[in-house]
Amino acid sequence: MKTVITFGTFDVFHVGHVNLLQRAATYGDRLIVGVSTDELNFSKKGRNPVYNQDDRMKIINGLRYVNLCFEEYSLEKKREYIEYYGADILVMGDDWKGKFDYLSDICEVVYLERTPSVSTTEIIEVITSR
Ligand code: CTP
Repeated sequence: MKTVITFGTFDVFHVGHVNLLQRAATYGDRLIVGVSTDELNFSKKGRNPVYNQDDRMKIINGLRYVNLCFEEYSLEKKREYIEYYGADILVMGDDWKGKFDYLSDICEVVYLERTPSVSTTEIIEVITSR
């Protein structure tokens, strides 16, 4: 049984997120998703997510191709999360290309092409400009 793990904020859930998670799931038998906490997101992007972490977790948990999700408290703890959940494959969007190669001693690292022309940042910009 192969376990796939991926991480992200998944704020203002959109089709790029669906595409990433659906494709990630095809790499193994179960998909585990680390959803970054509001605090982690604030430290990373300097703003709070539009949807809070409980709601973002609820959305991810509601997807049929996601088996489990958990709160990601620290970007530096990927190794611990991968080991704790026994993940065989780490899947990330290719905006992270190369950044997680250092984990290939404990799992396979796969970068998937991002869906073009959609991002949470862009959706927020479109809405606020209206
Ligand atoms: N993702 C993707 N295609 C997109 C947008 C996101 O494949 N068009 C992937 C990312 O590569 C990542 C996961 O979805 O693996 C979660 O991305 P996240 O950063 O939460 O979404 P973004 O829309 O990129 O958010 P932001 O604009 O705030 O950076």
